[in-house]
Amino acid sequence: MRDMVNAFDGLAHLKVLPLGQDQLRYALSGLSRQGMVAVPCLEKDVCQALVQLVDALPFHPARLVAGSSMNPVFQDFQLCYDVPVTHALWDFAESLGRLFQAALSSDSLIEPQTAFRFNDLIVQRYTAGCRGISPHRDHVRYRVVVAILVLSGDGEFCICQDRSGQAAVEIPAGPGDLVLMRAPGLRDAGSRPLHLLRNVTRCRRTVGLRYDVEKSAGGIK
Ligand SMILES: [Fe+2]
Repeated sequence: MRDMVNAFDGLAHLKVLPLGQDQLRYALSGLSRQGMVAVPCLEKDVCQALVQLVDALPFHPARLVAGSSMNPVFQDFQLCYDVPVTHALWDFAESLGRLFQAALSSDSLIEPQTAFRFNDLIVQRYTAGCRGISPHRDHVRYRVVVAILVLSGDGEFCICQDRSGQAAVEIPAGPGDLVLMRAPGLRDAGSRPLHLLRNVTRCRRTVGLRYDVEKSAGGIK
């Protein structure tokens, strides 16, 4: 693992994001209307290097059913929620978080007295032919904005109107793109969007970056 981190030697790449502050500010300001948007974030070769890095992490299958008995969420993917604190992904999360902080504060896009940083990382792998994840909302403890970085593969990441997936509209996002989803604490955020993932035909790897207000209160990370 250590060798792979050294071989990647990619922290410098990760700190130089093609994603600019103006572009990010524009995307964030659109979330009050659209719920979800995608923006280019990383070059393809950096994604390839990250694929190698994340594949060395320990993955395990997600629970088949999550959510509540009233609103079950069906899941078919692998995940790693224990990214070591020394892993390059945490440096990336910090760099990206600073860019977000600057964009959010420069245009007062965040509600007053609201903090923001990426303190929750999850890597997910959806193999070809998997069922993805059924319509759900991300937990309310995730605040301001949820960011999903696509590293590889395909699949339709959609926003939808109800838990049956009615009126699903795809938010096109390929490797290198960052999907942004509004969350409480973003100015004029409105409701948390219902969303789903389906139709994966090539292994899709994503990195989910979130601000978990409960972790923050507990002093973790
Ligand atoms: Fe989600």
